Amino acid sequence: MNQQSMDKPRQLLGGLSAKDFMSKHWQKKPLLVRNAFSDFKPIMGRQSLFELAKREDVESRLVVNTPNALKARDQWSLAQGPFKSKDYPKLNQKAWTLLVQGVNLHNDQGNEILSHFDFIPRARLDDLMISFATDQGGVGPHFDRYDVFLLQAQGVRRWRIGRNKNPQLEQDVPLKILKNFNHTEEFFLNPGDMLYLPPQYAHEGVAMGECQTYSIGFRSPQAQDLTQELFSLMSEALADSTWQRNPLYQDPKQSPTRSPGEIPVSLQYFAHQQFLKKACDSELFHEVLGVHLTEPKPNVYFESEQAPLGVKTVLARIKKGATCEVHLARQSLMLYDEKRIFINGESLKATGFERSLLRKLADQRVLRSADFQPHLHPTLAPRMRAVLELLAEWQEQGWVLIDID
Ligand code: SIN
Ligand code: CO
Repeated sequence: MNQQSMDKPRQLLGGLSAKDFMSKHWQKKPLLVRNAFSDFKPIMGRQSLFELAKREDVESRLVVNTPNALKARDQWSLAQGPFKSKDYPKLNQKAWTLLVQGVNLHNDQGNEILSHFDFIPRARLDDLMISFATDQGGVGPHFDRYDVFLLQAQGVRRWRIGRNKNPQLEQDVPLKILKNFNHTEEFFLNPGDMLYLPPQYAHEGVAMGECQTYSIGFRSPQAQDLTQELFSLMSEALADSTWQRNPLYQDPKQSPTRSPGEIPVSLQYFAHQQFLKKACDSELFHEVLGVHLTEPKPNVYFESEQAPLGVKTVLARIKKGATCEVHLARQSLMLYDEKRIFINGESLKATGFERSLLRKLADQRVLRSADFQPHLHPTLAPRMRAVLELLAEWQEQGWVLIDID
């Protein structure tokens, strides 16, 4: 993506450029966009969503609201999927919501919606969640740890929002419901309208008749979770690596002790220094961070849908000018840093044109013939073959799809 496109007004952002949006709204304040998508049509009807939420590998929740209940405790019920047909309340029952996470992993159009938000680092992207609600349905007033774009896909939803000073949560309810929610703004969203909310901003969406809302969520890692995860990955990486320097603790100056139970300060010092040395190894640290950020979620499975194409065939076809597209599978997570490429929890080093091709794949999620053409010079043939071998391996694992005309 070039710099120019970052300065151009976008319909998606209500006429703001990506640059303006990021500096004025991202992580700072809400933005309501009328008609962010023209003539927006939902990517699936309610029945397809109900079917999706029956699958083992799909995360889903069903929230039923009984508004007239006397206590907050009895007002909300929550069930986790997968569901069976009989679990869904009747369509003429008011105020229930089905929420389905990770729709982008199972639906190409869902995945395509995410690409409109490519001006935000993908390392922050979580998923596309679709909610279906009957009239008056919603999940109550709450706040999220996420930056979220709430895109109205079908029907009308009323959003009430407000800054969330001094939040208190209802006790004994299965959902996080704010006790003291006061809204300062109210909007009615129609299909194609979108509302951006920064993390911790309180909000309540209520369906005005049957509706579908899409949430494009951007996760913000929290220090403790992130550190814990990185510590454990660092320790796995340390166990797997051969240490170039592996010094032995020495204490030739240890004097006789009257307190044999006490840990010697010099041993504490040695352990701390060695620990810090490894913990501060930025090479290893950046590697495990990339591995962590591209680790597929536990319910994600890859399936190789294609018969593998021989590398020779692919190369010959590209040379002849055939249209070739290498797509990342919907489930694939691919990122890079200065030194490495990360894909689905694995890391590799690449330099030269291999690196620029793989970086392009991570950025665009697709490589086209034109991306390969400049590197087809005969002197590069062995290296090009190596890149194609890698892509063929990824194809076998179901991480990429290779289409040749
Ligand atoms: C919903 O779509 O019902 C809930 C989305 C949200 O409030 O984050
Ligand atoms: Co929310």
